[in-house]
Parts: sequence; structure tokens; C-alpha cells
Amino acid sequence: MFRLAAWAVVVLAAVGASPGGRVENVLEEPSGRAENILEAPRADQCTGFANSLRFDCYPEDDASEEKCQNRGCCWRSPDTSSTASERVALNIPYCFYPQNYGGYKFLNISDAAFGKTAYLQRGTKSYIPNDISIIRIDAKFESQSRLHVRIYDPSKERWIPPLPEMPQVDTKATNTDYDFVIEESKIGFKVSRKDDSEVLFNTQDLGGLIYADQFIQMSTLLPTNYIYGLGEHRAHFPLSTTWQRFTTWNRDIAPSEYTNLYGTHPFYLAMETSGKSHGVLMFNSNGMDVLLQPTPALTYRTVGGIIDLYFFLGPSPSDVVKQYTELVGRPFLPPYWGLGFHLCRYGYKTLTETKAAMSRTQQAGIPLDTMWNDLDYMKDQNDFTYDTSTFAGLPEFVDQLHTDGMHYIPLIDPGISASEASGTYPPYDRGVELGVFVKDSAGKPFLGKVWNPQSTAFPDFTNPKALDYWKEMLTTMYKLFKFDGAWIDMNEPANFLDGSTTGCDKNSLNSPPYTPAVAGGALISRTLCMDAQQHMGKHYDVHNMYGFTETIVTATVLSEIRQKRPFVISRSTFIGHGHYSGHWSGDISSSWSDMAWTIPELLSMSVFGVSLMGADICGFNGGASATLCQRWMELGAFYPFSRNHNTKDVNAQDPASFGTEVAESSRKALLTRYSLLPYLYTLLWAAHAEGSTVVTPLFFEFPSDKDSYAVDTAFMWGSGLLIVPVLTEGSTEVTVYLPKAQWYSFYTGALLSPGGANTTLSAPLDTIPLLVRGGAVLPMQTPATTTTAARKNKFGLMVAADPSGAATGSLYWDDGDTLGTYEQGAYNLITFTLRDSQLTGTPTHTGYTGESMVLGNITVLGVSSASSVSVNGASAPFTFDSSNKVLKMDSLSVSLTDAFTIKWS
Ligand SMILES: *[C@@H]1O[C@H](CO)[C@@H](O)[C@H](O)[C@H]1NC(C)=O
Ligand SMILES: *[C@@H]1O[C@H](CO)[C@@H](O)[C@H](O)[C@H]1NC(C)=O
Ligand SMILES: *[C@@H]1O[C@H](CO)[C@@H](O)[C@H](O)[C@H]1NC(C)=O
Repeated sequence: MFRLAAWAVVVLAAVGASPGGRVENVLEEPSGRAENILEAPRADQCTGFANSLRFDCYPEDDASEEKCQNRGCCWRSPDTSSTASERVALNIPYCFYPQNYGGYKFLNISDAAFGKTAYLQRGTKSYIPNDISIIRIDAKFESQSRLHVRIYDPSKERWIPPLPEMPQVDTKATNTDYDFVIEESKIGFKVSRKDDSEVLFNTQDLGGLIYADQFIQMSTLLPTNYIYGLGEHRAHFPLSTTWQRFTTWNRDIAPSEYTNLYGTHPFYLAMETSGKSHGVLMFNSNGMDVLLQPTPALTYRTVGGIIDLYFFLGPSPSDVVKQYTELVGRPFLPPYWGLGFHLCRYGYKTLTETKAAMSRTQQAGIPLDTMWNDLDYMKDQNDFTYDTSTFAGLPEFVDQLHTDGMHYIPLIDPGISASEASGTYPPYDRGVELGVFVKDSAGKPFLGKVWNPQSTAFPDFTNPKALDYWKEMLTTMYKLFKFDGAWIDMNEPANFLDGSTTGCDKNSLNSPPYTPAVAGGALISRTLCMDAQQHMGKHYDVHNMYGFTETIVTATVLSEIRQKRPFVISRSTFIGHGHYSGHWSGDISSSWSDMAWTIPELLSMSVFGVSLMGADICGFNGGASATLCQRWMELGAFYPFSRNHNTKDVNAQDPASFGTEVAESSRKALLTRYSLLPYLYTLLWAAHAEGSTVVTPLFFEFPSDKDSYAVDTAFMWGSGLLIVPVLTEGSTEVTVYLPKAQWYSFYTGALLSPGGANTTLSAPLDTIPLLVRGGAVLPMQTPATTTTAARKNKFGLMVAADPSGAATGSLYWDDGDTLGTYEQGAYNLITFTLRDSQLTGTPTHTGYTGESMVLGNITVLGVSSASSVSVNGASAPFTFDSSNKVLKMDSLSVSLTDAFTIKWS
């Protein structure tokens, strides 16, 4: 955390000093779609293609035989005699690349200090304008497990995202887990896993390799149909490879399946047939389609930048995520209070309404740490103001929250009102003075329209001066009321117009030769013009990084103002986002299916290294029913970021508003969450320190069990706790696949059936099934209704024996709010080991003395018998439940910062 601020400043300043790597993308002519006309292929080049080997040569909507042949491609109706599963697919291409599709040929291949280098030259034109005739491939053997393959124009710098900052590695690892194969006779390259020769990536002689200024396309064969990631999308966790397109282009849109959403993460994780795993990042910020087809194969199609691939060899899926976040940034460690329950709504029209929702929650005994306000608190929906009539008393309210050990978070939009009377609204005047707004093609502040009364200017967070500007603005607001975090919304950036108040110029940036399959059909749809100018480059190139750069600047500024850990939740995200902030899944609906979709979203974000993730509990758009909200509160109690949020003009959705039954279940689920916060916090620390996952897909823990690969209705916290929410109305049981392991009920400690099968769990309406995995030690704490109060309570341990009677776990603890505690050693780390009916606690690091850490109780699951217990040698009271085989020691008073031993026999 401590490094965060310094790092961001350095990076942004460096970018400011030399905007290297940036490409002037403007072409002379408003290009257009004028395609080069190619010769039609010979018939024999088009035969013998199974459906799955067709690579789409005409992805646009207006395909025809003539247009297809003008691209030099084959036009054939798909073979309908193939398997049933293929027949249901809608878009098996009619138009596909022929054999020996003309294109690049190798000029030479040579060894380099970092690995291999090759040059290719195009013999014939492609159908897209502005081919790059000579391209170069650098394969850098960066480490044993990481290979970096860059394909670029050796004669001219093209756009490469400067953030997150990637290391320059110029020497080659001597031992690698991969082989990189490149041979003159086959265009492209191959990456294989050394120890079992599995081919992970193979572009040789495949599809149509095109490398033009605004269209880069490359296809590869894949070794498996188990592909995860490629976000941000609403999709099942294992992605469909049945002719599916995943488009990334950050966009303000209510999530639906397979459209581009708020964030861009062109990273996938693959499960190989051996149970080993690898990951691939396409480090590119331009608008992009990624296609998966049943071959299995993948096609990248991007409208700018370069091909910049990073391969991570795992071999376990958690290794892949560790290797990925090592490169793009480990998740940040949030403040402890941020793990409490958050309550928010668009439509708390007054402070009085805000307070009423809060007090009914508290009166119901429901834990609550942080109150939020949406736009409502602002004057005229303008940033850095508050409405002193409807929200009169806001500063005193926030002070009172702090006195009560609670926190407050306001919404902040990037858009700044551009039509206030001159001299009346400093956020605009200062922005103009400092020159920090995104500029239009003529160099004036770019004006669109978001929530503000008439028009909106957009701070350019890639400009180093934006850091000062944003700090000045947030400081001014902080002087008004002492907010604790920032909820940054609408930062795709969203715009209610397509382009500026006067539209967009006609040119090749605003209407490129190829447009990815974005919602709205144009890159400018509901955002800025592509030729808008930012400090780092054209909006065309940096669009997908807008929210990310706002996040970096906001987190940096918040930590400077508060001198504490920043808590930022951003809607828009990019590669490396989790290093700075959390994310919520945006404007989902209050429906049972939307609730179910939050789980694959949570799992995917975990793969992208975003640990602090949640969805609007009870749904944002539309009103939730009591039965839905009851189950959703139970599930949301296990989102790492747990916030109930709702839109205006529908029924209230705060948990107490539905009456006692929903309130009671919410209270129960949240008290369980609060009792487990030491475990959750330890997982967040481990993610920060080592890159492990907090929300963990089941198969990460059981990578050799293929039956676990598709599970996306349940998720784990770390390796020890399985959460199995009920996702259908009225059900009081839920079925989930349990891999072979020892699974115990969290509530009773009873051992369940041994797994390896779909298992039905009982789930009364007020209970979310939770299973503890044999081998885990979960650190806990007696809960309270705020984290501030809970932190004063005694700790507890839940210890679950594996078949050999062993278990391990750990507890990370610090003051929960200071910057850089881990980096500076201001923390305690205690490890727990169960073996041979003996539990030991070992403080492996003691650097935090802010509060005493007392262990009050221990529950051990899977104990065959116990007739006496000793704690550090002295006999101690206990209870033993011989039917569930649960040993309990209550009323202990054991210091966790000293080594201890507990034995039973
Ligand atoms: C390969 O070809 C490129 C382009 O013609 C040239 O610049 C480079 O020096 C050649 N490399 C080798 C090792 O021959
Ligand atoms: C478990 O149930 C799911 C959903 O019905 C099914 O797809 C899956 O094949 C089942 N798994 C096993 C191992 O039976
Ligand atoms: C044991 O400790 C846990 C966590 O500290 C707490 O939730 C629970 O109430 C305690 N149980 C008993 C029986 O003291």
C-alpha cells in the first residue's frame, strides 16, 4: 500500500515526461471502409474444412458471397451433417479463410539475447487498408514460467499501454517450462509445455494473419475447451467455445450476456486435459473482439496497438493467477472497515431518508459499517458539492458516524459540469486553468453530457496535472465533510451523447475500417469521440484505460488526504485494476437470474486479480421481492465487497424494509460474515502478498477433478470455506458438486458425505449453506454490529480435521487502516497446525501491539473422541458432541501473540 502512491506518481509523471510508445493514428483520408479487392480463392483451397476449422473472414453483419470472395475468402454454407451441438450454433461462418491464404512470409529467424526474433514480410495486400508490410516477432523468455511474445512494426512505434507498467526483460531465462517453436515453413509460432509436450498456443498457418494500422487479427488453436476470463462479460465461468464472441470496449450499459461491459481484461486461464493450467494475456487497450470456436480455437481481432502476449505456465490454476498478478500488480489490501456491510441507494433524496434507512438497519440488529449516498447528495448533480438544504447537516452526520466507529462514502463522477456561470464553480474553472480536461480535436475542452445540468467536461487522468487537480477538488470536498472512500462511477467514460455536443468528425478514428461488435454499433456510442486528445494519446487508444487512470489518481489522492488506506470502488476497470481498488458489477437487475450471474462475475474478477469485488445486493434496477432479497442478502454477506444498493423510484431494498423475516436472515448471515472477517482479511492479505485468490473457484482447489470445472453456482473463500447460495425462489435445499474431500457443515460441524458427487444440502430460508473443508483452520472473532466494535472482541478458531486428522491455517492482523503495515512489518502473523490431537499456534511475525489478541474459543471438527483437554499444559474445560464429533473449548483466554499448545485425548 505504501508503494502505491509513490508508484502511481512516478508512473504518471514518467508518462508525462515522454509520451513514448504513442502512435499518431490520424490517417490522411477519412478512410473508410474502402477495402482492397482481392482475387477469389481457387475451389480446391476451400474444400476439406470441417465447420470448426473455419476462421471467420467476414465478421461484419453484411456478408455476401461477392463481398466474401472480394476478400479472397471461401464462401460455403456450413456442413449441417455434423454433430448436434454444432448445429445449434448460430454463426458458423459461411465466409472463411482458404488454405494458403496469401499474407506474410518469414524473412529471417534468429536467436536473441532475450530469446528469439523473426521478421515477416507481406507479399500481397490484405483487404484492410494500411497493411504493415514488415512485422517483427520478439519472443522473450522472461522467466521459467513466463513467456512474452511481441509482434510489432519494427519501423514505427505503435501504441502500447504505458499502464500497468510492464518490466523490460532483456535476458533469457535458462530454464523454461515452455518451448517456443518458430519455423520458416509455417507462418506463425507455437508454444508448448515442456514436460508433457502439450501445445498451448499454435498460430501456424492458421486463419488470416492480418497486421494493418487499424486492424490486427491472429488466430490460434487451443488445447482445451475449458477457457475462463476474457472480461468483463456476463457469461458462465467456463466460457462457451461454441462460436462465441467476447468484445471488450468499456461501456456504460446494464449487464446482459455477451455484450461489452464496463471493464477490459483480455486475459484467459485454460485448464488442460492433464489438469495443468496456463494463462494468456493480450496486453492491448484498443477495442477488441476475441472469438472462441469449438475447434477449440481463439481469434484476436483488435483495432490498434500491437500483439503483445504474455504466457503464464502455471502449472496449477492458482499459480497462473499468482504469475499474472506478479506482472500486472498484486491486489491492494483494503482497510478492515471496508469489509463490513455497506448500505446505499440512488434515491435517498434527503439526509433524513439516509438516516432512516440506517436506523432501521441498526434497530434490527443488522451489522452495518458504512453509509453511502448516490448523486442525491450533490447540488445539481455536480461533483464536490452537497445540497445544503436536502442534505443539511451532512458534515455533522459524517462526524457522528465516525464517533460511532462507522464510515461514509459518496459517489463521485468523473464528469465536471461545464456550464455553470463563470467564477461560480471552481472544479470547472480550475480544470480549464490547469488544462486538465480531455481536449477535442481542436484542442478545446471536450464537451459531452452526463448528469450535469447542461454539459460535461472530462478530466484527463493520464495528464500528470490531473493528480494535483483531483487532489485539490477532493481536498475541498473533504473540508466540507470527512468522507472515507470514493465510489467512482460512470468512468468508462459514460456520456449520454454519442460523442460531443456537436457530434464527432468523420475520420478513420471515429469510424475505423473495422468496428468490433460493440453495443451501439460504433466506438463513439455513449462515450467520447475517438479523436479526443488525452495526454497519453488519442481517446481511440486510451478509452479503455479511462476508469483505470481515474482509479489510480483517486486512490493516490485519497491516501494523501486521509493518510490512511484508500478505499475506492470503481465501475470501470482495466488490466491491473485490483492493485488499486475494488469493483462492483454495475447496474444489474433485481431478478433471480441476475443474482445467479453475480457468481461467475465474482469468479472471473478473481482470475483478473480483483479481490475486492461485489454486486449490488438485491439488485439495482427494478424492485426486489422479499424472497429474492432474503436470499441475496445471504449470498451478498459473502461477497468480499458487501453492499446493498438500489435505484430510485422502486420499493426500498435495505434489509430491514421487508419486515422481520428478511431482517433476521440478513442479521444472521452478516453476523456470520463478521465472525469470519479475520479469515477474509487474512485471505486479502495473502492475495496482496502472494497473489492467491480470495474468492476461489472450486476447481482451483481440485484441478484434477474435471467435474468441478463448470461449477459457477458456488464459490470458496480461500481453500477452507465453500459457500453454496440458494439461487431459486422457494427452494429450501440446494445441490452442488462436491469434489472428494472432507466437508463439514459450518453450523453443526457434522461431516457430510465424502464428495465426488452432486450433493444436496438443506437450506432453510434463513440459512445459506456453508461448508468447511477438512484441513482448514479458520480464524474468527466474536462478531458485533460494526467492525470497529468486533475488533475489540476475542478471537475464535474453527479447526476442521482432514482424513489424517491434520489441519493448517493462519491469521494476519494489523491495525486495519494504516498505509503500508505489511510492507513495514507492523503486523502479526500467526500460523496454526493441527496434528495428532494437538493444536499449536505459532506467531511467526509479531510487529503489531495496538491491541491484545486473545483467543476465546476453539471448535474442532472431526474429532473421534475427547475425554480431557489441556491448554499449555493445564487442564481446561471443554464439551464434546460425540454424534457430530465436535470438540469445543469456550471461555479460553489464550494470548495469540505467544506460542500455545492445546492437546486432547
Ligand atoms: C532480418 O530482416 C530484417 C528486415 O529485412 C533486417 O532488418 C534484419 O537485420 C534481418 N536480421 C537478420 C538476423 O538477418
Ligand atoms: C452435477 O449436476 C450438474 C447439473 O445438473 C450436471 O451438469 C453435472 O454433470 C453433475 N455432475 C456430476 C458429477 O454428476
Ligand atoms: C466462539 O467464537 C466465535 C468467534 O469468535 C463466536 O462467533 C462464537 O459466538 C463463540 N462461541 C461461543 C460458544 O463462545
